[in-house]
Amino acid sequence: MSKYRQLQQIFIDRVEVSQYIGLDTSILFYNKLLESIEKPLKMILLYGKPGTGKSVLINKIYHDAKDKRNVFLVSTPIQDEIEFIKKLYTFLLPESTMPEDISYNRFIDICDALKDRKHITVLLDEAQLYPSSMMEKIRLISDTRVIKFVVSLHKTEKEDLIAKEHFQSRIWETIELKNGTFHDTQMYVQKKLIQQNYFEIANMFKKSSIKLIYKFTKGNYREINKLIFTLFEIYDYYEQNKPSKISGSYIKDKYIEMSALKLGYINA
Ligand SMILES: Nc1ncnc2c1ncn2[C@@H]1O[C@H](COP(=O)(O)OP(=O)(O)OP(=O)(O)O)[C@@H](O)[C@H]1O
Ligand SMILES: [Mg+2]
Repeated sequence: MSKYRQLQQIFIDRVEVSQYIGLDTSILFYNKLLESIEKPLKMILLYGKPGTGKSVLINKIYHDAKDKRNVFLVSTPIQDEIEFIKKLYTFLLPESTMPEDISYNRFIDICDALKDRKHITVLLDEAQLYPSSMMEKIRLISDTRVIKFVVSLHKTEKEDLIAKEHFQSRIWETIELKNGTFHDTQMYVQKKLIQQNYFEIANMFKKSSIKLIYKFTKGNYREINKLIFTLFEIYDYYEQNKPSKISGSYIKDKYIEMSALKLGYINA
């Protein structure tokens, strides 16, 4: 694989703990979420626009806290109610045999019986995909205080959920994930490259390049990934066809603009 093709791979969207980068903003949210998990809350709502790093954060927390704090993760929503309840059961009572007639009502009774004796935290990613009848049940399970839920969803869905009357009176804490700052953008691009030992390439992104990248992506990690992926696609093309065009020790603004054009951030 050519050099720029390899570099492109680094900027493919990936929710992988080994590639987590502790940016100022992500550390802030990480600590915030961990603090909330320690509090006596029933539910925590984590929301933010697509690409702000919700899944990355949730996976990192899961990875770091699962042994110490009894934390479990459901990455993809389980649509079937019984399957979902069974999953919660295995989280809560991994050692015991599941009753054959397990149902939502039965599970509530089990939780009630465990009150004050057992506490686990369940992280639910992509929670906007749960039907509202399921969300209601999730909330009722959280009322037993045996399971605390961290509900992660897209920003627009938050308004819908909070708007529902039954969610208003509850003990909630909300954390909104935001795009990265200029500084986060700079650290993100450079650390991602350095993580894979591309020190020279990392140095080619001067402050002016980062300024442009920030301008086009507004610090949204998914957008940064897309922009740089496209940038390396252009570099790959020139390397194969006209290497003189990409000589030099820094990334030319022109190519960042071409990438932005290709992705539709700007019009010709
Ligand atoms: N702290 C971080 N360290 C490393 N990569 C990150 C970090 N934050 C975000 N990313 C990158 O940004 C991409 C998008 O993040 P993520 O998938 O977590 O967004 P999301 O908020 O869950 O979006 P959606 O709402 O669409 O599910 C990830 O695939 C990853 O490449
Ligand atoms: Mg996600």
